[in-house]
Amino acid sequence: MTSLKRSTAVTGAFSYSGSYIAQALLAAGWQVRTLTRHPQRPHPLQGSFPAFPLDFENHDELVRNLRGVDCLVNTYWVRFNYKASSFRGAIQNTSRLLQAAKEAGVRRFVHLSVSNPDIESSLPYYRGKAEVEALIRVSGLSYAIFQPTLIFGPQELLVNNIAWLLRHAPLFPIPGDGSYRLQPIYVLDLARAVARAAGDTRNETLPAGGPETLTFDELVSFLAELLGSRARRLHLPPSLALALSKMIGLLLNDVLLTLDELDGLMQDRLYVGEPALGKTAFRDWARENAQHLGRRYTNELRRHH
Ligand SMILES: NC(=O)c1ccc[n+]([C@@H]2O[C@H](COP(=O)([O-])OP(=O)(O)OC[C@H]3O[C@@H](n4cnc5c(N)ncnc54)[C@H](OP(=O)(O)O)[C@@H]3O)[C@@H](O)[C@H]2O)c1
Repeated sequence: MTSLKRSTAVTGAFSYSGSYIAQALLAAGWQVRTLTRHPQRPHPLQGSFPAFPLDFENHDELVRNLRGVDCLVNTYWVRFNYKASSFRGAIQNTSRLLQAAKEAGVRRFVHLSVSNPDIESSLPYYRGKAEVEALIRVSGLSYAIFQPTLIFGPQELLVNNIAWLLRHAPLFPIPGDGSYRLQPIYVLDLARAVARAAGDTRNETLPAGGPETLTFDELVSFLAELLGSRARRLHLPPSLALALSKMIGLLLNDVLLTLDELDGLMQDRLYVGEPALGKTAFRDWARENAQHLGRRYTNELRRHH
């Protein structure tokens, strides 16, 4: 293993996983900068490293902001098509980022993809992720591609919002029989693995799940018991559960769950099997953090749109 010079750029270090990755890189002795759409965003990490704009339309600025960087860690993606954000646009933007990185002399690209991406999938999230992986593999840059399942940890959105609903809603819809599996990975385990991969030179693709597998039903039941939830858990036909989550989304001015996300979940796409990349068990972490889980709703539209 040859080690590289120790300068990295992380996209989105004032957002979710990017903030943990930036901290893991700092702890591992890297020089860090971030490229973000919100360089001025109030965040506990403001001031810890330089922040530059991430404007995919401005090629020259992207190249300038990446000069002197050895490894670019990319967390950028969109969760669903909404207003100006689209999967098609995200693929194009990631391609622009790769081009700019090459031109700036970046040697390594560490990328967060998703578990079970699939170029043949009818789901644009998973198909788009596979398209981006293919672009990275032919880019000529050395690369590590992480394929996380469901990422959990402090300030996370999905588990937190399930917990919030279990605390506050009178009922909780479970699409279908809830038997589809998830293998959640702890954000810090992922961030440390990303920081290790930044200093490597091997081309690798790493499925990134945790040590514990739960069905969706088990996850919701576990959280309900842990939080003393009084919400009635209802198994509903998926289309009805989705319609209900859309209604709740309207009340909260947010998108809780999309049809594609539901299909992905029900296709077991958040399960990768052995070996597990993460060591932290979801249930242990949730027990330790129960008092914080679901106290406040995290609004996806407010975060990114
Ligand atoms: N969270 C999970 O459970 C999970 C599971 C599997 C895979 N992943 C993948 O892991 C990566 C990081 O996920 P994360 O949850 O940590 O994401 P995140 O922090 O919420 O967002 C990551 C980055 O994408 C940008 N972004 C998000 N939505 C956007 C939009 N609509 N338009 C433009 N930019 C947008 C953010 O920019 P700003 O900060 O500037 O808004 C941020 O820099 C993503 O590629 C995601 O697909 C996540």
